Amino acid sequence: MSSNTVAEFATELKKSPETLLDQLKSAGVTKSSPGDVLSEADKQKLLSFLQASHGTVATDRRKITLTKKSTSEIKQADATGKARTIQVEVRKKRTFIKREDEADNAPDTEDVHEAPSAEDQDLVRREEEARGQAELIRRQEEELSAKRLEREAREQREREAEERAAAYAAQEAEKAAQVSAQRQEVVRGQAAEAAARAAAQAEARAKAEAESAARAAEEAARAADLDERRRKALAEAEAIRAMMAAPKKVLVAKKPEEPKPAPKPAGAADAKKGTLHKPAATPGGARTAAPAAPGGAGKEVKSAKLSSSWAGDPAKKKEIKTRGDSSGGVGRNNWRAGPRGRRGNDRGDDHHHQQQAPVEARIIEVHVPETITVAELAHKMSIKASEVIKALMKMGQMVTINQPLDQDTAMIVVEEMGHKAVVAALDDPEAFTDEDVSGQQAEQLPRAPVVTVMGHVDHGKTSLLDYIRRTKVAAGEAGGITQHIGAYHVETPRGMVSFLDTPGHEAFTAMRARGAQATDIVILVVAADDGVMPQTKEAIKHAKAAKVPIVVAITKSDKPDANFDRVKQELVVEEVVPEEYGGDSPFVPVSSKTGSGIDELLEQVLLQAEVLELKASVDSLAKGLVIEAQLDKGRGPVATVLVQSGTLKVGDVVLAGQTYGRVRAMLDENGKTAKTAGPSIPVEIQGLTEVPQAGDEFMVLSDERRAREIATYRAGKFRNTKLAKQQAAKLENMFADMTAGEVKTLPIIIKADVQGSQEALAQSLLKLSTDEVKVQLVYAAVGAISESDINLAIASKAIVIGFNVRADAGARKTAESNGVDLHYYSIIYDAVDELKVAMSGMLAPEQREEIIGTAEIRTVFVASKIGTVAGSYITSGMVHRNARFRLLRDNVVVYTGEVESLRRLKDDVKEVKEGFECGVKLKNYNDIKEGDQLEFFDIKEIARTL
Ligand code: GTP
Ligand code: MG
Repeated sequence: MSSNTVAEFATELKKSPETLLDQLKSAGVTKSSPGDVLSEADKQKLLSFLQASHGTVATDRRKITLTKKSTSEIKQADATGKARTIQVEVRKKRTFIKREDEADNAPDTEDVHEAPSAEDQDLVRREEEARGQAELIRRQEEELSAKRLEREAREQREREAEERAAAYAAQEAEKAAQVSAQRQEVVRGQAAEAAARAAAQAEARAKAEAESAARAAEEAARAADLDERRRKALAEAEAIRAMMAAPKKVLVAKKPEEPKPAPKPAGAADAKKGTLHKPAATPGGARTAAPAAPGGAGKEVKSAKLSSSWAGDPAKKKEIKTRGDSSGGVGRNNWRAGPRGRRGNDRGDDHHHQQQAPVEARIIEVHVPETITVAELAHKMSIKASEVIKALMKMGQMVTINQPLDQDTAMIVVEEMGHKAVVAALDDPEAFTDEDVSGQQAEQLPRAPVVTVMGHVDHGKTSLLDYIRRTKVAAGEAGGITQHIGAYHVETPRGMVSFLDTPGHEAFTAMRARGAQATDIVILVVAADDGVMPQTKEAIKHAKAAKVPIVVAITKSDKPDANFDRVKQELVVEEVVPEEYGGDSPFVPVSSKTGSGIDELLEQVLLQAEVLELKASVDSLAKGLVIEAQLDKGRGPVATVLVQSGTLKVGDVVLAGQTYGRVRAMLDENGKTAKTAGPSIPVEIQGLTEVPQAGDEFMVLSDERRAREIATYRAGKFRNTKLAKQQAAKLENMFADMTAGEVKTLPIIIKADVQGSQEALAQSLLKLSTDEVKVQLVYAAVGAISESDINLAIASKAIVIGFNVRADAGARKTAESNGVDLHYYSIIYDAVDELKVAMSGMLAPEQREEIIGTAEIRTVFVASKIGTVAGSYITSGMVHRNARFRLLRDNVVVYTGEVESLRRLKDDVKEVKEGFECGVKLKNYNDIKEGDQLEFFDIKEIARTL
């Protein structure tokens, strides 16, 4: 297209080569023949000259420079799932120039002008040329479309363009009126065509287009007023310019720096634009998006044409908006499904980033904790909360953004959204917020061992610990037995050890199991004078189940009947083999009376601990186990907890089983206040909202609201399962009632001081149930007996058992006036024994026959008033009036009945003894014969015991 010689150029300009040579000469370009080669610089020179000679040098133009800056944020997760915020700043500078007399030449803007030629032919030719170039541009554009700008930027530009164009259009309307109809036609025709083609180009250029359009129109209007000569010159200048590449174009519209390429299916995008766009593309805009695009000159021409058309047709403006909006919507939806793990709100793209390129939908594995709020769930799926709400609405649930959902519902929603739902474990980091788990990776430091002392009742566990701790716990125990787990930490010369003292009574199986679960090492206490006993075996089982090493302490070694060999042999049977026999359990004879062997025992324990290399993080949120819990009158719910990792501090928010709370105060085992408790330290905490279950796990959370949510949710779930169980139990009972005939139930309500006792007592009492009398646990809880407990007892006809607790005044009154049975105990086996007695009272008494005498019927006579009477002789024992009889004939029972009356001679008598004769009237039976035997008996009711 571009001409290289003077002759070619002249043909292109529709001039004679001579005229061109003259012009070149006056412009200072020395070319002598038409065959001379013209350089770009020469053409430029000529252009400048022509402009100057026609007075077109832009000296008096009025300039407006608009600078626009918009910032937006994009939140996106990187490969590791960490959220990143990218600040996108889009700066735009636009300079608009208004010329009074002459068009063109705005070097610092992207605007392009085409001076409409007076000669139609020329115009047609150029149009052709422009079309060819536009085609080229379009292809280039297609290639580069993948790198296109964010849609948002485009849309904004379009809007600006629209505004500006509107302003210009208003200005131009006036001038345009003066332009000849023909010219207008041509310009518009060109522009329309160009617009159609350019529509296929990037939307990004829309604004620039608008400006160009406006200017071109303005120019057109002005051009109409210029004289023929000037117009010719201008046309020439334009032609020259058109042929020249215009690299400065590239610099024009400052594009927003792309934070990342926004890949976008080029074909689809372009197709859409092609159909919808009118005022499309200025090449300037396109080129900024695709900086390497060659062929700039052609683009200028084309864009100029279409611009003028745009200015002249306001109806087209509207279409921009429509298209922009719709594509914005598409972008947003796709973006939604995009990256996982984006933190914070999604609003970043709500405001400006609607044009985000579609991103491939990803299936996210969503870890769903026990409870999760709508907002959090949406966040985990990287979608808007409203989408979750919508999904739930479809499922018939109306929820708010902050409403917690249960796991099941949340999982359904996740699946509904096309993602994968995974049940998050309790301590799954995904289940909690970042802060909750931060520090869980904290450095692992050596920690003290937790040692549980286990063994049969009265084998000396508490005494052993008393000796080690120099305390007298055992002496103060009710009934001399330990009834709940004690937790102590002791500084020994070789480091700290935490001890858990368990009860040996058979009722406390659960406590022993818990003790074994929480521990690192078990000290198995076996009394030297007693040997292996049932709970010794049980303790071994617990230790083995928990896979913890056993150190055997043979206690009471000071006793004269101590027999170590027997203990060893019995333990070997239980597969606890002494080291000396090749096993791995050290056996240490100790005495809590004399203190012998205790140092060695500690030595052995610490040795075992060293082998275990126990470690825990110190600088993290605490986690551990609830050892015991109770409701204290003054202090409310109190729990003894064993910190297993991290450090528990006053003020921490603790979630323990179904309860939660902020730690108000902490006491160590000696009742001294503590501010912190590190790993392996047992501590008593106050501040929980309810009494937790002994054995519950506890953990510190950073968010109280979250702790409450989880606790509430767990409580609700527990209630549900409990209800279901109760119903099942009832059904079972019904079945049992039907089969076993009359079954008596003994409903009981247990209130205890500590959770462990309540549990142990309930279990022991439930074990008393027999086929005939069932113990029914109506309610068991920790705390004093309250009026509501009594009311429950009235309703359920239950007896109330208070273990180390008493009824308050109100409860006592209600109990008295309603005759509710209140029983207080402080020793577990007392309670069990007494209940046994109570239950035996409910057993139907046994009826036993007791033979009292025998008689022989010697005569049978019939008395007129009485009927048949047996004249009998009492052969043994006696008979009384209320006795029952069995009539035997040839030693076969013929009839069993009651004696009606007894006579001796003519008188009724109460009883007749052995060796006497008497008349016996049998009730309802007359078929008696001489020689029949009578056997008299009484029925005795014998109270039974269990
Ligand atoms: P429970 O916790 O109820 O299972 O009992 P326990 O194993 O803690 O036993 P406890 O320490 O209460 O001791 C029971 C009895 O044994 C007490 O009367 C102690 O005085 C006695 N006793 C404990 N250790 C020794 C010992 O080494 N020598 C002697 N002679 N008596 C001991
Ligand atoms: Mg004890």
